[in-house]
Amino acid sequence: MTIGFIGCGKMGEAILKGIACGGDHPEIIVSRRNRAELERIRNTYRVGTGTNADAAKCGTVFLAVKPQQYDGVIKEIRDAVHNDALLIYLAPGISPEQMEAKLEKPGLKIIHLMPNTPCAVAAGVNAYACGKTVGRTDEEMFAALVSPCGTPVRVEEGQMNAVVGISGSSPAYYYMMIDAVAKAGVRAGLKRDDAVRMAAQAMLGSAKMVLESGKHPSQLRDDVCSPGGTTIEAVCSLDMAGFEGIVMDSIQKCIDRSREISRQIT
Ligand SMILES: NC(=O)c1ccc[n+]([C@@H]2O[C@H](COP(=O)([O-])OP(=O)(O)OC[C@H]3O[C@@H](n4cnc5c(N)ncnc54)[C@H](OP(=O)(O)O)[C@@H]3O)[C@@H](O)[C@H]2O)c1
Repeated sequence: MTIGFIGCGKMGEAILKGIACGGDHPEIIVSRRNRAELERIRNTYRVGTGTNADAAKCGTVFLAVKPQQYDGVIKEIRDAVHNDALLIYLAPGISPEQMEAKLEKPGLKIIHLMPNTPCAVAAGVNAYACGKTVGRTDEEMFAALVSPCGTPVRVEEGQMNAVVGISGSSPAYYYMMIDAVAKAGVRAGLKRDDAVRMAAQAMLGSAKMVLESGKHPSQLRDDVCSPGGTTIEAVCSLDMAGFEGIVMDSIQKCIDRSREISRQIT
């Protein structure tokens, strides 16, 4: 198996790191324009480097450039991509069918991947939608490749705008929550570093509780709220300020914007 990376910035490198740091790894060829960065990637992950066309000739190809770079890069790689390759692309707003048409390769196996930035610390989400020619073996191989950096979750292509709101963009909302909680800690006399560490660890632990306890988040919240106690004061205050509604409305705006951008691209 050979794996090509065309573009290796924040998301590409997070995925590469997961694949390359798991002991013996398949042959990998990375391409990007910045030569110093390419050299750093070659030395850090013990991979080969080359042109976009070199990377495009691999059996599995990750296309991880920014959406505005797609058209130029696709023109460059169109002839190099093998008809039986598996192409995985990260751009929002383009469906596997549209990618197939752009590449002029009818029947090419294509997966649309939407990762998020926590993939950089092996705690991401890798939501993905499969083009119609992707088989079970390809999908399993793909899931094994991306699992080290983030949990693979299969969705339908039509759900990708919702995925942007729920996992692609959501780290930003959680950082805001951590910052707000930490600020409250500083206000109450804690050192900033301690407050940020406690707020972040509490969020990490709470997420693990949701994932590992099998309990609904609202049940876990109730478990923290003793009758007449301290937590219920904060919870009621958040409820009365419309916390859930603000979160849901804001995420809807993110999803709407993702839909709008998708329409502009197509
Ligand atoms: N960041 C996020 O939170 C996030 C989340 C989900 C999905 N995504 C998607 O993931 C994709 C990559 O995003 P990113 O955040 O990783 O972007 P990024 O950090 O800017 O990385 C883009 C990469 O593309 C390379 N590149 C640009 N033009 C190129 C060209 N003509 N030929 C070869 N390489 C080229 C850049 O390197 P050089 O400048 O050296 O060429 C860089 O390595 C995008 O489609 C984005 O929408 C991002």
